[in-house]
Order: sequence, then C-alpha cells, then structure tokens
Amino acid sequence: MYYSPEVLEEVMLRNDIIGVIGEYVPLKKKGSSYFGLCPFHNENTPSFSVNADKQLYYCFGCGAAGNVISFIMQIENYNFVEAVEKLADRAGIQLPKAEFSPEDAKKEKLKERLFELHNAAGRFFYKTLHSLQGREALEYINKRMISQSIQTKFGIGFSPNSRDELFKHLSQKGFSVDEMLKSGLIIENKYKNGYHDRFYNRIMFPIFDVRGRCIAFGGRIIQKGEPKYLNSPETIIFNKKRNLYGINFAKAERKKEIIIVEGYMDMITIYQAGFKNVVASLGTAFSKEHAMLLKKYASDVILVFDSDEAGEKAALRAIPILVDGGLKVKVLQVPNGKDPDEYIKQNGSKEFGKLVLNAVGYMDFKINCAKKLYNLNDMERKMDFTKEAANMISELSSPVERELYAQKVSEQTGVSQKAVEEEVLNIYKKQNMDFKKESEKKRIRNYSQVNNIEKLSNTKGAFEAQKELIYLCASKSEICTRVMEILKPEELRNDVFSQILSYVYNCVIEGKRPEPSEAVNIFTEPDKQKIAANIFVLNTKFEDMGSIVKAVNEEIKIIKKANIDYITSNASTIEEVQEALNLKKQIENFEFKL
Ligand code: CTP
Ligand code: MN
Repeated sequence: MYYSPEVLEEVMLRNDIIGVIGEYVPLKKKGSSYFGLCPFHNENTPSFSVNADKQLYYCFGCGAAGNVISFIMQIENYNFVEAVEKLADRAGIQLPKAEFSPEDAKKEKLKERLFELHNAAGRFFYKTLHSLQGREALEYINKRMISQSIQTKFGIGFSPNSRDELFKHLSQKGFSVDEMLKSGLIIENKYKNGYHDRFYNRIMFPIFDVRGRCIAFGGRIIQKGEPKYLNSPETIIFNKKRNLYGINFAKAERKKEIIIVEGYMDMITIYQAGFKNVVASLGTAFSKEHAMLLKKYASDVILVFDSDEAGEKAALRAIPILVDGGLKVKVLQVPNGKDPDEYIKQNGSKEFGKLVLNAVGYMDFKINCAKKLYNLNDMERKMDFTKEAANMISELSSPVERELYAQKVSEQTGVSQKAVEEEVLNIYKKQNMDFKKESEKKRIRNYSQVNNIEKLSNTKGAFEAQKELIYLCASKSEICTRVMEILKPEELRNDVFSQILSYVYNCVIEGKRPEPSEAVNIFTEPDKQKIAANIFVLNTKFEDMGSIVKAVNEEIKIIKKANIDYITSNASTIEEVQEALNLKKQIENFEFKL
C-alpha cells in the first residue's frame, strides 16, 4: 500500500516531529535539538534527541532513528499505513485511499496466489490423511490422542510417500511452476529437468498467520528418522521471525496472557486441554518481532519449557527479548524432564492448570537459576551470588518490584535487605557513569567528524563510506552533480543505500533540496527506515570544499573496490576475474575532482 509523496509531505508538514514526540516523551531544548528519555529502551539519562530542522529522531543509546511516521510505527506498534492514518487524523487531514505501487501490486498478487496454493495443498494433505495412503499416519495421530475435532480445526494432514504427487495436483489446479517454487513446497531436482515435492511421508501441520491464512507447513516424520520436523523455507508469505504457531487461535481468546511453548504438539495438546491462549515458536529462537506480535494481543506471557538444561537455557535467552518488548513475563518449568504434551497426557489438564497458576515471575526464575551455581554455605560464594542477584534486580524499572526482590534475596542469603538495596544503588551509579561516558563518546564520534574525516575514510568499511557519501551528496548539490556521473546507485550493494542515493540524485536533478524525513519515507519497514535515518543524523560539518572532495574521493574508491570484490567473488570464468582486476587497477588511479 502506498500514499503519494505529496500526501506524505502534507501529513508530515502538519505533524511537526517535536509536537508529536512531545506527546509521548517530555522533551527539553538543548541547542538546535530536543532531548528526552528514550522510549525504546530503559535509561536514566536522556540520550534520545529530536531534531526540528531534519525532522528526525535519534537515540545515542540504542540507535533507534527515524522520522515522525516511523516514530508512530514504533511506539504504537503500527504499520506504515496505520501510522500515516493516525497522524492524518491528528492533524484533521482527509486522506485519499491508499494505492499500491505497480511493484507492490505485483507482489500482492503473488502473495494472493501463494495463499491459494497453500490452501489447495492443505486440502490435498488432509484428503490424503483420510485416504488409504494415510492409514498409518492417522493411526499415529490417534495414538497421540489428538481428538477428531482438533485434527480438523488444525487442518492436520499427510504428505504421500511419493516424489511428486503434490506437484501434479497443484499443476492440475492451475498453479504455475514459478508459483510452486516460490511457495517452497516444490523443489527443482538436482538435474534441473524436473520437479518434486519438498514433503513426503510426513504428518503435515499447516501453519497459519494471524489472519488464519495458511502460509507454510511443518511436517513430522512418523517413524524414527531425521529431521524429526521439517518446515517450509522462508517465502514472501512466511517469515519465521514474525510468526508464531497458533497465534490465530490464541488471539481470538482475547486473554490477558498467552502461553508460549516450543513444539507444535505441545501447543496442540495444551489447546486441547482447554488452554486456548497458547502459541509455539517455529523451531527458531525467540525474536524481537515475536515479542512485538505478542504485545498486540496480550500484556503477559507464560514461558513454558522442559525442565532440562536446554530448556532452561532457551528460557533465559527468551526472557530479555520478551521483557524488552514490554511484556510481563512468567516462567513455568514442567517437572520431571517432561515436555508439556507428555505431562498433560500423564497427569491430565487439571494438574497442568495448577502449574500454570503457579508460574513464577521471571526474576524469581533468573535468581533461582543463578542460585544453583553458588554454594550459599561458602561466605565468598554467597557474596558473589548476592552481587549477581543485585545486578539482576537493577534491571527492574519498578521500585516496588526492586524492593520486593531485595527482600527475597535477603531472605535467601541472610544478607540484610538494606545491604542488598545499597548494592543495587551502587550498580545504578556505576551504570550511570558508564553510560554517560559511552554516550559522550558516541556523541563525539557523531558530531566531530569535522577534522578527521580523511583519517576515517581510510579505515572505515564500505558501509560507512556509502553512508557518508550519500550524506555529502544530499548536503552539497555540486558534489552530487559530479558523483552522479561517476557512480550508479546500483553500485551500492545495500538496497536501502542505493534507493536513497537515487532519491538524492532525483532531487538534485529536479533542483530540490533532499529532505531527510522524506528519504526515510521511501521505506515502510522499520529496519530500513532506521538505516535511512541513520545516514542523515551524521552531523559532519566541513570547513572547506577541499576536504569534502578528498573525502568523496576516498569514499568512491572504497565503494567501487567493494563492488569489484563482490563481482570477483561471483565470477565464474577467468576472463571475468581478469576484467575485474583491471577495473580495480583503474580505480587506484582514479581521482575525484569538481
Ligand atoms: N523442531 C524443528 N526441527 C527439528 C526438530 C524440532 O523445527 N528438526 C521444532 C519443532 O517446532 C518442534 C520443536 O522444535 O515442535 C520441539 O522439538 P522436539 O522437542 O524435538 O519435539 P516435540 O515437540 O516433543 O515433538 P514430538 O512430541 O512430536 O516428538
Ligand atoms: Mn513431545
């Protein structure tokens, strides 16, 4: 979906970034920028800056950056279109209907086809499970006590034990080879003269997106064998980092909390046991995006995992991600080395319900994990433990919680509560100092590239060189006009950079000043917006044209060389390599002049 640049300009013009962000974060003016506490990470000293001139924000602490639209996207958990709508609303602007760009329209069309294709594949697998071919698989599913109605609800199926039955079926339904390959369900054979199914002889679990559309499959082997679970690869409709198995069902429950487990079978069994607010990760580590997705539908999560070491480790890794995502996190350890599925089958839903009720706050869990590592009878070790626990407590933002845990640690160690609290206070003081030093360093790095830009250019990588070159082109049209003749946007190997460079070129050709906040709007994904904004928060001030020309000269060389290295590493003939080497020599002798 997209809004024309004119519409976006109007929306941004009528929503000054200082005013908008000021509604979320108290800001204080300092020089040409405004400062406040960053809303995207925990901090005690302000390192979040908003610049009225560039209409950008930037955090020296966590690197968050963007324009007014990306700010709303991040803070409200909105997508691009939703954020634009909110801002238009705020300013009383009537928006025209959003349109697709031709490129997006094509992508949307393909997505639509892939949804249909997955739907057809799901039906095919379901039918196969209930045919003669699926007899053994159905027996296995019944043995695992998945009820008939749950089987249907989750659309469980079976992929036949043959090379290309799905391929034939989908062809017959009118799907093109290109669509089938892009779905990930069909693979070209190694002789490149035919196609076969990715999944065969597996129990098939359709994976649904938030809106209940089938976007991928997970397939479990029936007998022993490797891999036990095989999943669809990432496609334009399936991103493991952004999806959770069962989120479509969990969301419908509208519960305050969501239970998180590791396995498909665990998820299904817990659901069947009556706890329908449950999701499973898709065989990947927990991501920031997962946390954001959950945050849309719940305020609390209960992490459920096996009580072995691996499970504990996984939980310890997931906790900070979920906590940083603003979720209240509890932890439930299934006893006796069982997974939730086995536990429920052995002890019943009621017992599992008790475990859910008794889930502990994540801080209790973390402190308990740490405690296991120390022998509290030993004075030295007890002190170490208390320090480590104090460290953990210092992460808590609520003073009430801090007091509560200080009390708990005091009870466990016999160290007075006051001493524990003092320890926490000391950590704060030290962090504050470290933070100040660190952000001061960052500030200096960002602001004082005035004199040593030459020195930097020699050592910095292609990434930095590209960033700075774009910045210089955007600030000086006479530089840009020359660079345009020498460097094509495609020569930047980073998609965001090349799109911005071509935006800057276009502005200069049309005689317009490139606007940082407009450049950020080329992108509708937060990650890319951040990279874009980061280019323009550079605050290089140049004394004279001579030093700029020198910097540009270095940067062009670095970029061209990196590009040639890339071509060389992908070359398939000696001639291609030779040619690349020749190009590289030419660049050695190249000199940028105005
Ligand atoms: N997984 C995976 N690929 C594998 C193994 C596991 O993607 N080769 C993921 C699956 O999502 C699986 C989860 O990790 O559901 C947990 O794996 P595991 O504990 O081995 O299986 P269970 O969930 O216990 O499966 P089952 O009860 O069917 O044996
Ligand atoms: Mn299991």
